[in-house]
Amino acid sequence: MPEFEKQLDEKAAEAEAVIKKFLPAEEGYQKTVIEAMNYSVMAGGKRIRPVLMMEMFRLLGGSDMELIRPFMAAIEMIHTYSLVHDDLPAMDNDEYRRGRKTTHVVYGPGMATLAGDGLLNYAYETALKVFFCKEELKPFDGDISDRRAKALEILTRKAGIYGMVGGQCADIEAEGKAEATEEELIFIHENKTAAMLESSMMIGAILAGADKKTLDDIEMAARKIGVAFQIQDDVLDVTGDEAELGKPIGSDEKNEKTTYVTLHGLEDSKAEVKKLSDEAIQILSGFEGAGTFLIPLVTWMISRNK
Ligand code: IPE
Ligand code: IPE
Ligand code: MG
Ligand code: MG
Ligand code: MG
Repeated sequence: MPEFEKQLDEKAAEAEAVIKKFLPAEEGYQKTVIEAMNYSVMAGGKRIRPVLMMEMFRLLGGSDMELIRPFMAAIEMIHTYSLVHDDLPAMDNDEYRRGRKTTHVVYGPGMATLAGDGLLNYAYETALKVFFCKEELKPFDGDISDRRAKALEILTRKAGIYGMVGGQCADIEAEGKAEATEEELIFIHENKTAAMLESSMMIGAILAGADKKTLDDIEMAARKIGVAFQIQDDVLDVTGDEAELGKPIGSDEKNEKTTYVTLHGLEDSKAEVKKLSDEAIQILSGFEGAGTFLIPLVTWMISRNK
């Protein structure tokens, strides 16, 4: 296994241990919904969002891991909820995810809906544990000076109607719509996917002490990475291998989705992935030490087969 992939495996395992520590105990009359939540989270995801968050935090000089751990768990809970709902019969209607039967297939659509709701809410309960860490943080020079509060604002906003949920809304409305435009497609990709990567990288940065200008640069880089990541996801929906991906291919065609591939074809899509990731790497190159892991991670994310 190449050196980078070994490193990534170790960091993903580190993130997974953090996530696991925050998961709720399966007990009480609500036991079934908690089991469904934990089933979804503990299936084999790549853990890219918490790893990106942790690495951004470390790169910018963050040292007290107690500050970042609650957010690492929270972002993966929110991401997992988005997948559980995305797979529901009322949305993409997919039966295979992270190498397992989807949550609604195992627990039924009602319980899967609740598992998603439970994960979103529990994510916020978890993120709030950042207040148990008493470390003094210097004020942020942006709109909200308290860094914990700013991190919570980023987490909540970018998951909601001005982020992931907004993108999923446009994604559903563009189904079967032959006249969907480039502008709509960019909105979909920037919101349903890039927003959660922006959130991951920005929260790592803000809690490490980044200033406003740095945060803006990171948001811009993450947006490009996110759009490239979703275009690559669209490419893999056509060219990927189900066993390696752990989810079905052909889902977009089945649902008549508007994707980068339907608008521009495979070759142009691959070229756009490369262009966007080069632009993102250009921005990240400005951060000392980014070449050690963060830039290889971005390169891997957009050239991945899984
Ligand atoms: C899948 O995200 C949904 C998209 C935004 C493309 P990932 O490809 O990160 O899925 P997991 O977490 O590894 O399962
Ligand atoms: C979904 O995009 C992104 C989310 C916010 C869940 P897709 O519908 O293409 O994701 P996959 O292919 O099912 O993972
Ligand atoms: Mg979808
Ligand atoms: Mg889907
Ligand atoms: Mg997809």
